[in-house]
Amino acid sequence: MSIDGYLDAATDERLLLSNEADLDRVDAVRAECDAILVGAQTVRRDNPRLLVRSQERRDARVARGMLPSPLKVTVTSRAWLDPQAQFFAAGDIEKLVYCASDAVGEAQERLGKVATVVDGGQPVDVCEVTTDLYRRGVARLMVEGGGTMHTQFLTADLADELHLVVAPFFVGDSRACRFVGDGRFPWHPGRRATLAEVRQIGDVVLLRYALSERFCA
Ligand SMILES: NC(=O)c1ccc[n+]([C@@H]2O[C@H](COP(=O)([O-])OP(=O)(O)OC[C@H]3O[C@@H](n4cnc5c(N)ncnc54)[C@H](OP(=O)(O)O)[C@@H]3O)[C@@H](O)[C@H]2O)c1
Repeated sequence: MSIDGYLDAATDERLLLSNEADLDRVDAVRAECDAILVGAQTVRRDNPRLLVRSQERRDARVARGMLPSPLKVTVTSRAWLDPQAQFFAAGDIEKLVYCASDAVGEAQERLGKVATVVDGGQPVDVCEVTTDLYRRGVARLMVEGGGTMHTQFLTADLADELHLVVAPFFVGDSRACRFVGDGRFPWHPGRRATLAEVRQIGDVVLLRYALSERFCA
């Protein structure tokens, strides 16, 4: 996020917050996960590939009996997703779409050939999503945004750790998406989160918070 807590600009231009070294760190974290989840708006706006970039890391996963990249997961209530988006087109790995019940038919029709559509309830409950993912063999899930997803996973107390990277500039436009929206978070002045690590990575800083007993230092 920016110094003032934004994940993106309000304009159509893509905002680059991380630097190369941090993107490589993110790649290393991705390589240790079983699945990566982003909200549908991130699929539409950023068109991310969500694959492990480093060949060495992909090879290491395969040597451990895993697929080269983690499973890709998204959540939608409207199913307005393009089957040609990189989320679906990139990587020969399973893609899961948790869709609100009343749009499952539409999602199936539009995305059934490129993804597994799962009825996620009305609305989709992220607790249920994690339970279903666990049943499918996902022990470690990386949530990569956007703000709506962060808010739901954090307020539902589902996150074991938070990696917050601060880029050295301001966005200064409240039309842009913030790191989180409003909500009742389990960490507040009466219950402070544990700051587990602070690491400078070039011109950005990584703040790593331990949020649950399952956090591994
Ligand atoms: N800086 C970063 O690291 C980073 C990372 C990721 C994203 N971003 C930025 O974040 C912004 C997007 O964030 P965002 O908060 O607007 O959107 P988002 O979290 O990416 O996606 C929100 C969408 O996900 C679906 N959704 C979320 N919760 C749902 C639920 N409980 N049930 C059903 N559907 C649900 C809805 O999709 P439908 O509208 O399809 O129903 C909703 O519109 C973009 O600007 C992107 O560039 C930045």
